[in-house]
Amino acid sequence: MKQMNIRIREYIPIDEKSVYKINKETLEVSFKSLYNIFHRNNPDLFLVAEDLISNKIVGFILVTITKKFEPRDSGIIYAIAISPNYQNKGIGRKLIEKLSENLVRRNIFTLYLHVKESNYKAIQFYSNLGFKKLELVKKFYSWGESAFRMKLNIQKNN
Ligand SMILES: CC(C)(COP(=O)(O)OP(=O)(O)OC[C@H]1O[C@@H](n2cnc3c(N)ncnc32)[C@H](O)[C@@H]1OP(=O)(O)O)[C@@H](O)C(=O)NCCC(=O)NCCS
Repeated sequence: MKQMNIRIREYIPIDEKSVYKINKETLEVSFKSLYNIFHRNNPDLFLVAEDLISNKIVGFILVTITKKFEPRDSGIIYAIAISPNYQNKGIGRKLIEKLSENLVRRNIFTLYLHVKESNYKAIQFYSNLGFKKLELVKKFYSWGESAFRMKLNIQKNN
């Protein structure tokens, strides 16, 4: 891989096409209908990774706030994906770190997600970042597959 220079920044509507391309290539579910809604509601929680050398969007993370799991607000990851050629280069980690910073700024210290039981790579990725497996949620997905619910306690100095 050639050199890269990754910047994490907020999504803007002209990123839609690039984000959707990565979404289609890497995830089973399309989140396209949510991009603009999430961007309008919480612009600091929908981030993209941009390679300043190729001027390409190479990853994104889509997060919202929920009270579903705790009395206090938590973040919940709807989607995170890195373009296949850019995976395993620390970009996913950068997205989670920047996102965590933005949550802490809102006084939110917990981040949840669901990951397909069979997505070993992603489970390994999340575990390496400090997420803990909480429980297996049976038939979480519309097609019947189960998902692990995972949680990260964000450190203030993250
Ligand atoms: C999962 C995904 C977001 C990870 O992003 P990434 O940029 O490839 O991961 P990073 O390079 O930042 O890796 C961060 C850590 O996770 C580990 N990791 C990443 N991919 C891994 C893999 N395939 N197997 C084992 N460990 C992995 C890395 O070793 C690294 O650990 P370290 O920093 O302690 O050395 C990315 O691979 C992806 O988009 N996958 C396809 C879509 C997907 O499954 N999304 C999640 C749906 S819930």
